[in-house]
Amino acid sequence: MPLSLPLRPALLALALTTPFAAMAASPTPPAAGPSVQDISVIAGTCANCHGPNGQSTGGIPTLRGVGERHLLLRLQAFKAGTAADATVMTRLMKGYDDAQIQALAEWFSKEAQ
Ligand code: HEC
Repeated sequence: MPLSLPLRPALLALALTTPFAAMAASPTPPAAGPSVQDISVIAGTCANCHGPNGQSTGGIPTLRGVGERHLLLRLQAFKAGTAADATVMTRLMKGYDDAQIQALAEWFSKEAQ
């Protein structure tokens, strides 16, 4: 008895394409960013330097309530290494993806609850 059965090409094609078809039909929206819980954890790490809840009391800029677009442009410039004034922020932002950076800008642009 042969060890392997020859697969019919049509069956093989079906076996190869089915997982991709299932992925394409997935209900998850492609642009889904981090969840609110995720972003509150990430944003919590910023408090060490930018003050509790992003409201600074020292020389480091306040983030809370600053315009979303300003925050987004600054964070993107840090990540890209094009912010001339950057010291620590370039290294920090390299660790975040675009969706997380967008979510951080949105998060801090909102007024404190
Ligand atoms: C180790 C301290 C430190 C941490 C942690 C930190 N920052 Fe910063 N941040 C700075 C400093 C210092 C600056 C001024 C620019 C520089 O020196 O890199 C800055 C500048 C910024 C600016 C520019 C503000 C403006 O109006 O120009 C933004 C936006 C920012 N940080 C966001 C964040 C976010 C979001 C996090 C958390 C993911 C974070 N920072 C964590 C120290 C920190």
